[in-house]
Amino acid sequence: MRILVIGRGGREHAIVWALRRSEKVKHIFCAPGNAGIGSLAENVDIGELEFDRLVQFALDNAVDLVVVGPDDPLAAGIVDAFEAAKVPVYGPRKNAAEIEGSKIFMKNLLRKYGIPTAKYETFTEYEPALAYLRSQPAPIVIKADGLAAGKGVTVCFTAEEAERALRETMVDKSFGAAGDKVVIEEYLEGQEMSILSFVDGETVRPMPAAQDHKPVFDGDKGPNTGGMGTDSPLPHIPQAIIDEAIETIVKPTARAMAAEGRPFRGVLFAGLMITKDGPKTIEFNARFGDPETQVVLPRLNTDLVDIFLASINGRLHDLDISWSDEAAVCVVLASGGYPGSYPKGLPIHGLDDAGDALVFHAGTAERDGNIVTAGGRVLGVVGLGKDIADARGKAYEAADKISFEGKFNRTDIAAKALVRGK
Ligand code: AMP
Ligand code: GLY
Repeated sequence: MRILVIGRGGREHAIVWALRRSEKVKHIFCAPGNAGIGSLAENVDIGELEFDRLVQFALDNAVDLVVVGPDDPLAAGIVDAFEAAKVPVYGPRKNAAEIEGSKIFMKNLLRKYGIPTAKYETFTEYEPALAYLRSQPAPIVIKADGLAAGKGVTVCFTAEEAERALRETMVDKSFGAAGDKVVIEEYLEGQEMSILSFVDGETVRPMPAAQDHKPVFDGDKGPNTGGMGTDSPLPHIPQAIIDEAIETIVKPTARAMAAEGRPFRGVLFAGLMITKDGPKTIEFNARFGDPETQVVLPRLNTDLVDIFLASINGRLHDLDISWSDEAAVCVVLASGGYPGSYPKGLPIHGLDDAGDALVFHAGTAERDGNIVTAGGRVLGVVGLGKDIADARGKAYEAADKISFEGKFNRTDIAAKALVRGK
């Protein structure tokens, strides 16, 4: 098979790496890819949102399957565009991707079907939003409705912070048109976890749970990022809670989407808070998580191509999906200044010294035969081991051998899993 993967980050590197393990795969293209992906696939210089060019490329190059990584092209209808050209494509259509593209759509769906989530109200005008905000206790959460590059959510611990966040979102338009509508929601306290599932419209096949570390600094301090590291499985979270989340949130949401005439085919990603009243939904994404994918796919024993094809054909119920017992920990190496502004084009050293660890490139480019930084999150270094402690040791050992000017990483990825796990 000839496969075209769309995207340029660590998630796409992990997808390409997993596809490479399939005996069915002959050639992989990645548009636009990055320097690391270029060692496993042929990078194609077409952007994720250039649908006409991507479809034409797939037709001209006899592509058998397209796999879409990021949220923006899914929300803009890339799957519909490939389907119209009769090119097999893995991912949700535009009307199903709306579960991520509009927080208001998602919240209203969950309310309608009685699926656990934070209490909320939605607003399109500033004055009534402000009045509601003033009637609610802090902490409270303000969310721009649309996609805002992983930003757009402000967790506010005081009333002043909340009023400032509302003004910035709705009046100053800090997140652009994404802030024309807002969700104001109850603050949920607890531990977060991510459950990604393969879904074919009806059948839900959960992947092992993972935990992201979103704030930039150790101890969950500082502003949120795209994710500074992940671990999977989660020995410190009882399996009964993971099962409860699957039964009360993930499966009912897939059923709700089908009942609404928007069957979800692709990876349904539930971002959950484990509260004292049980798991509740924070968000849904319509795609693989980044950097969750980097710790989940290396544990997959089943051929990923078989899963993608069974999903497209509505046959996931026929397929056994198996996972290795190994643990995986991903440590993200970031550019100095991230998530604010940061330099690019700095040479990266030590990439060949990572030993057994997997190094997934997130923001890299090739310049004159050297690999240089090209993003805020530069690399995801993944250790695999017999348990979290082993995997974590391997990830950090390799992470320490890689260097570039201004490099930093969190030093406490997976620390929570060590406390009560093994
Ligand atoms: P999101 O962009 O929806 O993933 O939100 C970013 C982060 O904000 C989440 O990972 C949580 O840490 C936090 N967050 C979002 N909603 C809530 C909530 N209702 N209560 C507490 N934290 C939240
Ligand atoms: N790791 C969070 C996300 O992919 O949205």
